[in-house]
Amino acid sequence: MKKIPLIIDTDPGIDDAVALAFAFHHPAIDLKLISTVAGNVNVDKTTDNALRLVEYFDVEVPVAKGCSEPLIKELEDCSEIHGESGMDGYDFGPITRKPLDVHAVEALRQTILASPDPVTLMPIAALTNIALLFKIYPETKANIKEIVLMGGSLARGNTTTAAEFNIFTDPEAAAIVFKAGLPLTMIGLDVTSKAVLTTTEIEKIKTMNQTGAMFASLFGHYRGGSMKTGLKMHDVCALAALVEPAIFSMQSTYVEVQTGDTAANGATVADLKMKYHTEANADVALEVDVERFRKWFLEMLALTK
Ligand code: BDR
Ligand code: CA
Repeated sequence: MKKIPLIIDTDPGIDDAVALAFAFHHPAIDLKLISTVAGNVNVDKTTDNALRLVEYFDVEVPVAKGCSEPLIKELEDCSEIHGESGMDGYDFGPITRKPLDVHAVEALRQTILASPDPVTLMPIAALTNIALLFKIYPETKANIKEIVLMGGSLARGNTTTAAEFNIFTDPEAAAIVFKAGLPLTMIGLDVTSKAVLTTTEIEKIKTMNQTGAMFASLFGHYRGGSMKTGLKMHDVCALAALVEPAIFSMQSTYVEVQTGDTAANGATVADLKMKYHTEANADVALEVDVERFRKWFLEMLALTK
């Protein structure tokens, strides 16, 4: 089986940790690079957390540290959801792995251009690194197959009334990426807020294996939802959409990213009826089969240590 060459751009982040863990283990994925960015917490912490996961699972995936700030806005982190470290709740011990000695944007360029097959990009954080990549090295676009991202919302946001966190963190970057002219899949809050794990799954996970116990420990500190209403597994939905697309129903449309100092900043407005656009720039997720998602989640967990 030919594997999918994948790069994950991330800000771990408890739900990012799950996405990375599963990407390490999925038999159809060849994870070539993890690039980090500021978002849930600052970029030093998100980089340390990515290194912790690489070390915990003992995988040889390079980690490159990226942008410490959004393109224009000030960084407003999300440590109230993920904890001070970004991955509170589990003691991973000291980190011995090191990040690459080049900036993530440079590592992205090198990795994309070196890949014999076009690479899939999976941003599960603010789009700062990816926007800079497209501005500085537009030639990389020719070797990118598609972008499958977690971010945005067709309805309300989770950070402001209108905006989802990853897009709100760097709306200008998101606007650049959505207009990049590449095939783009948007896995937004419309589905990720429904893809929740309840106490039933979490009890199962806890005793399934070592990774399950580690996840359960992180989940005890995660404020992305609650144990009562279910924990939102935002970022791993992007991976699920790539490897098990049938879990989601999708629509091709045009998504406009709002920028500027208004209450709409960071909103992703989809022209679902294509009244204002003739060509789509994104496939957006409309619905998720939650039971199927949970089944896939447990199957993926079973592949880990
Ligand atoms: C997104 O925001 C972050 O807190 C999560 O890691 C996810 O990428 C959800 O809005
Ligand atoms: Ca994230």
